[in-house]
Amino acid sequence: MRAKRILVSVLSFSLCAGQLTVPAASAAEKNVPAYEMTSDLTEATPLKAAVKDTAAAAAITPTANIQATDINALGDVNNDKFIDANDASLILKTYVRISNNLASGLSFEQANAADVNKDHHIDSIDASCILSYYSYLSTNGTLSLEAYLNADKPLPVTTTASATTKATTTTTTKTTTAAPKTTTTSKITSTSTTKAVTTTSTSSSKTTNAPTTTTTTTTASTTTTTTKATTAATTTTTAATTTSAVQTTTAVTTSYVNPYKVQEIKLSKTEMTLTVGDGGGISYVTMLPQTVTDYRDVWSCSDESVAVVDNEGWIFPLSEGNCIVTVQSLNNPLVKAEIKVTVKDPNKVNSIKLSKYSMSIPIGGGDISYVTMLPANATNKKEIWKSSDESVAKVDASGWVSGISEGTCTVTVSSKSNPDVKASINVTVTDPKQVRELKLSKYEMDLLIGTTDISYVTILPTTALKQDVVWTSSNPAIASVDNWGNVYGVAAGKCVISVISKANPNIKADIAVSVHTRPVIVTSTTTTSTTTTTTTTTTTTTTVTSTSTTSTSTTLTSTTTSAPVTSPTHLVQTINGATYIDGILVVNKTYSLPENFSATGLNPLALESFNKLAADASLLGLKIICSSGFRSYATQNTIYNNYVASDGVEVADTYSARPGHSEHQTGLAIDVNSISNDFIGTPECEWLAKNAHKYGFIIRYPKGKESITGYRYEPWHIRFVGIDTATAIYNSGLCLEEYLDIDSFYR
Ligand code: DAL
Ligand code: ZN
Repeated sequence: MRAKRILVSVLSFSLCAGQLTVPAASAAEKNVPAYEMTSDLTEATPLKAAVKDTAAAAAITPTANIQATDINALGDVNNDKFIDANDASLILKTYVRISNNLASGLSFEQANAADVNKDHHIDSIDASCILSYYSYLSTNGTLSLEAYLNADKPLPVTTTASATTKATTTTTTKTTTAAPKTTTTSKITSTSTTKAVTTTSTSSSKTTNAPTTTTTTTTASTTTTTTKATTAATTTTTAATTTSAVQTTTAVTTSYVNPYKVQEIKLSKTEMTLTVGDGGGISYVTMLPQTVTDYRDVWSCSDESVAVVDNEGWIFPLSEGNCIVTVQSLNNPLVKAEIKVTVKDPNKVNSIKLSKYSMSIPIGGGDISYVTMLPANATNKKEIWKSSDESVAKVDASGWVSGISEGTCTVTVSSKSNPDVKASINVTVTDPKQVRELKLSKYEMDLLIGTTDISYVTILPTTALKQDVVWTSSNPAIASVDNWGNVYGVAAGKCVISVISKANPNIKADIAVSVHTRPVIVTSTTTTSTTTTTTTTTTTTTTVTSTSTTSTSTTLTSTTTSAPVTSPTHLVQTINGATYIDGILVVNKTYSLPENFSATGLNPLALESFNKLAADASLLGLKIICSSGFRSYATQNTIYNNYVASDGVEVADTYSARPGHSEHQTGLAIDVNSISNDFIGTPECEWLAKNAHKYGFIIRYPKGKESITGYRYEPWHIRFVGIDTATAIYNSGLCLEEYLDIDSFYR
């Protein structure tokens, strides 16, 4: 063991400096001493003494390997007939001197003996060769140094390094294995290592210019494996010739490693948890074996969005997640160590909001939904976008969605710092050339028998190539429909009118149609059976009749008393507090509007029609202007109260509607020109009375109908009801109340 320690110390001394060219051979050829011996180079005494002092070294007598001449044998640099650590030490000292540009101090013969690998350099490789051979001899190796160095593989060394003897007599027979090679396959029974030992590899010398000694110039004998080398036969012989002596013969197999090569990296921590905002962390590195001198390392991180590591190994957390930080030896890149890093982020994202959660995009088009990551002070708001089906839609890192083919998919955005937090968008990709949807202006219709209605269809997308549609009725006996979508009520009942895309019959839209029978007004002479079947609707019309009866209208009285007659009744609808009779919004003293009725100005169609009326009148040299159009509930309240203040309620009620009872609140009524009797008899008044219906307007409070309308004659007040209705009313000579069979008085 002592000898082994010396080997190690010698090797530690062996600096792996640069390569030195030693012209030993050429000097020898010229027979000129290449190196001059100096006094200090003979001072290997302590080393020599140490070797000689060891029991193991003392037992070695490798005389067979060394020529006993005055000429230095190869490796026996100091010519003491031993090839041992002293020679190696002398070589290393020479190497140091040469490295420092000093004279080698060796004689020509010493130089030749020192250049054991014959590469014309005297350096640490030669010293290693000596040491390796010395170790080999120590295990009773028998090869010459040249043979040893030329061996294909490093030779294991076998020796009787220690003998455990239980002998009680002096007749102990020493049995030694015949040849080292026979012991190389012996079973390993124990392992002793020096401090420098780390592996049993036979790595090559760190110095790269060892041409023929790759395996044998291994610089250290660091791991020793002791094997039982005694054969069974030998043991038997020993037992036969001695009484109780047992000679244990031990074989030592030696492997070699480069003590300067990093074999292992140890870390003070292999796991680390860091918190964003709390600074970084470090794991301290130990390079093994301890003899390494090249501590350079390289740091890297598997996910630099989670943490980064600097050249010193400081790890800085960036966002919640996991990553692996790796440190690698620059000296031996195969040697690595890893730190599992967990990063916690107290301000991580905990919810994601989107500007839209569904989108429809055409093929080749795109869209984006803007992301809000919460909380607002989240450290890492990075987004990860993913499409459930990239053949339908793709999404880029910024969330822009591109339509690829017709279909649907889900695009999901998640938080990089907190992947469990997600939000999704339902994406529909459409073909802009194909009809996708048919939209209708109305999906329900209530029709009276014999009346018509229309629902306008819009074909989407507007870029669709084939826009043809087909209209059908589920029951033409109840309601029929023409090619333009006009629906006709035929008979009482319900049916469905459908509009279907010709290009894609799967695309359709339906209208639920109800067709109603016009009830009849029942007089006293009506048969019982008729009365029974019309009871419900009679109740409604009775009100009209009784109201009319209470009025002083001769016409009405005669109508209701002429018998037997039936007259149609009307469909009455109340929608949001407003009354529609046969689809006409009715406002008079009987029927009011809620204070919050939806109109806020003139009805656009009424205004357009009025403008046309005024324009046409203008062509005739008539000037018709709007003097009062839309009036809110509040405005009417003010107007009415002013009239009451000046004329009293009874008179005011003859020309001014109470709030909630004025047609002006509908946005469908207009007072033209002078709102007074001054208007009467003007050419504009005459023309308006004869032509207003052509533009959809009626003179709402005609002369002679005061008791029915409830108001005095107002030729300036026109009401929009549509051209068809206005024309019908105009032709009938009736006022609106008469036309709809309703009354007008405050209750
Ligand atoms: N002058 C009409 C009746 C109104 O006040 O609405
Ligand atoms: Zn008016």
